This record gives sequence, C-alpha cells and structure tokens, in this order.
Amino acid sequence: MTTPSLLVFAGSTRAQSFNRRLAHVAADLARAQGAQVTHLELADFDLPLYNADLEARGTPAAAIRLKEIFHAHPAWVICSPEYNGSYTGLLKNTIDWVSSPVKGDATWGSGTKPFAGKVVGLLSASPGALGGLRSLSHLAPLLSNLQCWVAPKQFALSKAGDAFDASGHLVAEPARQGVQGVVEQALWAAQRFQG
Ligand SMILES: Cc1cc2nc3c(=O)[nH]c(=O)nc-3n(C[C@H](O)[C@H](O)[C@H](O)COP(=O)(O)O)c2cc1C
Repeated sequence: MTTPSLLVFAGSTRAQSFNRRLAHVAADLARAQGAQVTHLELADFDLPLYNADLEARGTPAAAIRLKEIFHAHPAWVICSPEYNGSYTGLLKNTIDWVSSPVKGDATWGSGTKPFAGKVVGLLSASPGALGGLRSLSHLAPLLSNLQCWVAPKQFALSKAGDAFDASGHLVAEPARQGVQGVVEQALWAAQRFQG
C-alpha cells in the first residue's frame, strides 16, 4: 500500500500565526513518513465572503481550485485557531465556498464531492491553556456532516507563544508526539480506506 497524499492547511492567514507554524510541523512530520504533502496557505486564494447572489454570477476561480485540491487528497490535516470558542470565519467561509454546489456543472454539481470519504486529522493552537480545543469540537461535526471521517486522535497545542523555537520547531517532545499521532492516524486510516 502506498502512503496517501496529505493536504495540510491552517485556518489563519496571520503572518506570525501559531496554526500556520503548526501546519509546517505537521507537513514535515508527514513527509518524514513518506507522504506526499500539499501545504496550502489560504491567503493564496482570493475568496470573497460567501454570498449566493455573487455565486449566481459565477463561482470564483479560487473556489473551484480549492474544490479540486480538496478532492485530490484522501487525507487532510487542518490546524484550527479558536475564536470565541469556535473555529475562524476564514475556515467557515472557505468550507462554505468549497461545499457549495456549482449549479449545472457536471464535475462540481455535488457540494459534498470534495469532502466525502476524506480522513481529517484535527490540530489546534492557541496562546491559551486549552490550546483551541473548543474550536475542534465545533469543526468535527461540521466535517462529519460533509461526509468526512474525522480521526479520533486530536491535539491542541496550549501556550503556543512558548511552544516553538526560532526555527519553527516544537520545543516540547510531548507536543511533537501529539502532532505526530494525529498525522500518523490520518495517514493510516486514509491508506486503509483507499485499499
Ligand atoms: C476574535 C478573537 C477571539 C478569540 N477567542 C479565543 C478563544 O475563544 N480561545 C482561545 O484560546 N483564543 C482565542 N483568541 C486568541 C487566538 O487564539 C489567538 O489570536 C491565536 O493567535 C489565533 O491563531 P493564529 O495564531 O493561528 O492566528 C481569540 C482571538 C480573536 C481575534
């Protein structure tokens, strides 16, 4: 069995984002396991706020590109910041665009197509004591509703301001193992689902 390709992205575009840094760590660990990794930066996709009137004039090219990328990867790792006990508007807006059916389109007429059957590992990072864990408790049912398999292992990096060294590596070994556990489980499950 070949190692499945992995999509990694963070729900933040902030330059010094802890979740973007965590996504780098996850991507490096997956590559070390032999996975082919696509590391997305959501800042590279010019997506307006979702609006059905706007969509009726044509789905933005960035949304179609994201549908293609999501669909092409059997395993994903999402690094979710926590805003007000939930995930970010950026993440929601991205998922809303990617899950919205393109009317009359032979390829993207189904909204769940980019999501169905994907194995998703969830990570979060926050300067707070809970590490953004509550964002994951909201994100998991949303993804399940879109027919993703949410990996049961999750990891929330608390006190993220002290967690990375100057090179972006995690300082504490237990944190590194927490990320690795999620990456490994997502790849493991996706590999079996592919078979
Ligand atoms: C509007 C807003 C709400 C926030 N709410 C929470 C929260 O509920 N829990 C938490 O741990 N951090 C909260 N934070 C702090 C974020 O965890 C912090 O800004 C973090 O750095 C965001 O992730 P990023 O570094 O990947 O951009 C909030 C930040 C903002 C701007």
